[in-house]
Amino acid sequence: MNKEADGNELMAICKRRGFIWPSFELYGGVAGMFDYGPLGCTMKNNILEVWRDIYKGREGFVEIDSETVNPAEVFKASGHVDEFSDYMTYCTQCQLPFRADHLVKNFCENPDTMSPAELEGAFSEFGIKCPECGGDLGKVEEFNLMFKTTIGPGSARVGYLRPETAQGIFVNFQNLYRYNREKLPLGVIQTGRGYRNEISPRQGMIRMREFNMMEVELFVDPHDKGWSRFPEVEDEELVLVPNTGTDTVVKTVGQAVEEGIIANRVLAYFVCTTKQLLLRLGIDADRLRFRQHLKDEMAHYAADCWDAEVLLSYGWTEITGIADRGCWDLSRHSQFSGSDLSHFDRFDEPKEMTFMKVQANHRMLGPAFKGKAKDIAAALEAKTPEDVRDGKIVLNISGEDIVLTSEYFEVKEVTEKVTGERVVPHVIEPSHGLDRIFYSLLEHSYFYDEKREYSVLRLRPEVAPIKVGVFPLMEKDGLDVLAKEIYDKVHSTMTEAYYDGSGTIGKRYARMDEIGTPWCITVDYESLEGPDKGTVTIRERDTGDQKRIPADKAAETVRNLVGGLGFSDL
Ligand code: ATP
Ligand code: GLY
Repeated sequence: MNKEADGNELMAICKRRGFIWPSFELYGGVAGMFDYGPLGCTMKNNILEVWRDIYKGREGFVEIDSETVNPAEVFKASGHVDEFSDYMTYCTQCQLPFRADHLVKNFCENPDTMSPAELEGAFSEFGIKCPECGGDLGKVEEFNLMFKTTIGPGSARVGYLRPETAQGIFVNFQNLYRYNREKLPLGVIQTGRGYRNEISPRQGMIRMREFNMMEVELFVDPHDKGWSRFPEVEDEELVLVPNTGTDTVVKTVGQAVEEGIIANRVLAYFVCTTKQLLLRLGIDADRLRFRQHLKDEMAHYAADCWDAEVLLSYGWTEITGIADRGCWDLSRHSQFSGSDLSHFDRFDEPKEMTFMKVQANHRMLGPAFKGKAKDIAAALEAKTPEDVRDGKIVLNISGEDIVLTSEYFEVKEVTEKVTGERVVPHVIEPSHGLDRIFYSLLEHSYFYDEKREYSVLRLRPEVAPIKVGVFPLMEKDGLDVLAKEIYDKVHSTMTEAYYDGSGTIGKRYARMDEIGTPWCITVDYESLEGPDKGTVTIRERDTGDQKRIPADKAAETVRNLVGGLGFSDL
């Protein structure tokens, strides 16, 4: 970021111009909560459309929209009830809460991996005190970040606000798998709110308590972590910070896989897709890197994880996490729900195989379960020996849990000709934080123009909330009539325009430049008479260059420019 615009200044512009407003200011505000104003909302939607264009359009993934309040069972199975916590401490004097790992970050390497005892040890070793009042810090305790609620009146059913949208996709796996005609790979995207009761959100939009996610869950066959489109990206370069202790390296996607830096092709492909998405949105390539999580920094579900980090006024900041979640989620939901969440991996040719198999004991099931015995037998035989726990198998038949003790089944070695095997799909997940991307785009596109003596947002046309400002040189003599006509033709939800007839033209340009509007159209007296009659000027934000275009082609011209036509080609 150049001259002056630190996070605070940018947030001031955002607030003044209607991008972002701190929530509930009327009542004193709540830390970590923000509302999107008209410009912010439009820009947020534009980011979403680019993300959709890549994942739905190019990759052919499907989109769903699931509930934000989930029953506790979902997060018990996912591991969030037991594992989704940060370490916190209170100041013993002013009682303010702090993230313990954040307090030691200038003194210790990898604070994310420290235990409570190590964090407390660091407080005394380095004399770390309360950043607000200098008081002594108290004990370090675990704090679960999920917001808890009840579903229905009283304490009928415990629920949590989802901390990630991903679980809504995992619990719908059976529906999605059926929709995809029981084939893998299966790519699913979801956008929506995630909620985390962050301990001490002090970094603007970087740490919010309610935030927007754009998540992608790709289910793949665990035996096939290749990706047919891999050759399209293998020569693209990535800036990588591997967890092997080496410094930043620049590798092609192909090299990163060959040298074992990124574990498999599908993960590498989606690291590269993330780079493509972020650069298309307008992240500065020189301020983007991919950092691999340390082994003990990884989330409870991840087998490998790479963060897309961007350099901001706050330092290097994660804006997207790309994780190989392995079979964690589907195995856990299968175990906790008793449902089969596997994929049938069909062999090219049937194979003779010897293996252990669960076989139903029909003689015992019939008398005990009568009409349900057939369904129970089928569900039992779909289970694997790994599903037997403490000598029992738990089934879920039409929502009812049925516990079957060992007299109802047998685990036997069998040799059979088989056409395929059931496997639990693995999940590759690019999880994008929409608000962090939004904020990073503002920082990376901010430019203080010394000549113009004001700040300009060099937002990419696809992302800019307003695509074109439409001005009459003077708001009289029919100039305003033609300008309004042009505005009406250009303005649509996909090509937002802004009509401005007040103040000097210089001031109007400045107002548009400050919010990142890529072009301005001006109707002047030449538009109405003389050799240039029927034409208007169009000005480019970044160069200030101007051209004359036919007034009746203004809408088409702006759409072509948004679509990628160069200004010099007009
Ligand atoms: P951090 O370490 O910064 O807390 P995280 O590793 O917990 O982040 P993930 O769990 O990987 O983040 O979440 C996926 C994405 O969601 C992140 O890359 C980030 O962009 C976004 N995100 C996570 N927490 C927040 C938050 N509190 N406010 C805004 N965005 C967030
Ligand atoms: N779904 C990724 C995360 O929340 O960490």
